[in-house]
Amino acid sequence: MGTPGSTTPPREAITVERPAAAPPGQAEQQRLRPARPAVGYALHGGEADAHRLATQARALEATTAEFLTAAGLRPGWRCLDVGCGHGQVSLLLATRVRPGGRVVGIDGDAASLRVARRSAADAGAAVTFLRADAGSLPARRGRFDLAYTRLLLSHLVDPLEALRAMTTAVRPGGVVAVEDVHIDWLGLIRALPALWGGGAGGRADPVLLEFAELIDTVIRSRGGDPAIGPRLPALLTAAGLTDITAAVRPLPIPADPSGTIVAAMVDAIRDTAISAGLTDAARLDRMRTALRQLPAEYTEVSRRIARLYQVSGRRPRPRGTPAYGDEPAAWPAEPGQPTWPADAWSASAA
Ligand SMILES: C[S@@+](CC[C@H](N)C(=O)[O-])C[C@H]1O[C@@H](n2cnc3c(N)ncnc32)[C@H](O)[C@@H]1O
Repeated sequence: MGTPGSTTPPREAITVERPAAAPPGQAEQQRLRPARPAVGYALHGGEADAHRLATQARALEATTAEFLTAAGLRPGWRCLDVGCGHGQVSLLLATRVRPGGRVVGIDGDAASLRVARRSAADAGAAVTFLRADAGSLPARRGRFDLAYTRLLLSHLVDPLEALRAMTTAVRPGGVVAVEDVHIDWLGLIRALPALWGGGAGGRADPVLLEFAELIDTVIRSRGGDPAIGPRLPALLTAAGLTDITAAVRPLPIPADPSGTIVAAMVDAIRDTAISAGLTDAARLDRMRTALRQLPAEYTEVSRRIARLYQVSGRRPRPRGTPAYGDEPAAWPAEPGQPTWPADAWSASAA
């Protein structure tokens, strides 16, 4: 799967180089194609991406909190945050499960986990952060009440594998909750001239078109699907979950008047784009400079195009399984006890 350190082959391995700048309207025919196969997460993580991720997390916080409440989150719950990144949702979960709850954040990127651990220490939050692959979670069966993930599945070659692992990690009756996007970059390219005006002759900004096409191609070249949102209910069902609920909202996109966040996005895909042979450093530098001067309407246009899918389901409860609250009290009550996380994780992960 598309994971840090994974060796699974990508979905496509193609050898067509990027064509010269396409005349307006022909972008669809001349889609970028990766020159070399690659695997792994497409965006730069760690310290370098901290500002972008923190801004994004702030914009999403209220929406995520509402979703978690609707999913039944309550004090005492044991929660797993898969692909936790810098841990913003893990910390949110930690405040909501007190007293008696537990939170474990999982990510494949060691640098991001360092940022997450520091934030948790600063906030005095008892969250355990572990490095693991979303497709092979080392959690013992049924140890969590909630397995949650945000903006991860759209980056994976095999999102179903991750959902199955999350389903196994929750108890019978436990909840698997997913937030991910439907960003139709091609739709954005088509719609921009009409939505935005795009300058003389109703033509869309060529730099923005190039950026939209590049980011879509970079994520897809690693096996991801930036338009995964509508597929989520079927994926959760295929993972064995029942009682599926789904909501669709406009993606809360942070206002970005100086283009800082979009420029940071260019930086985040830089290594992947160059190593895939999709572009070069000089071109990315020009793109970055041009995007810093994006008109303010960009944020509004993006909000109209991008959607956030919030989908949840429950692990079926076999007949005779004790209801939540009636289970044997095998779970440690206080943070820091030696049975945690060793009790929840196989020895190699703890
Ligand atoms: C877009 S970030 C989202 C971070 C966080 N969930 C949030 O919403 O702020 C995706 C995260 O998933 C992690 N990731 C990507 N592939 C992974 C995998 N196969 N296993 C575990 N983590 C992975 C990345 O390192 C990154 O931190």
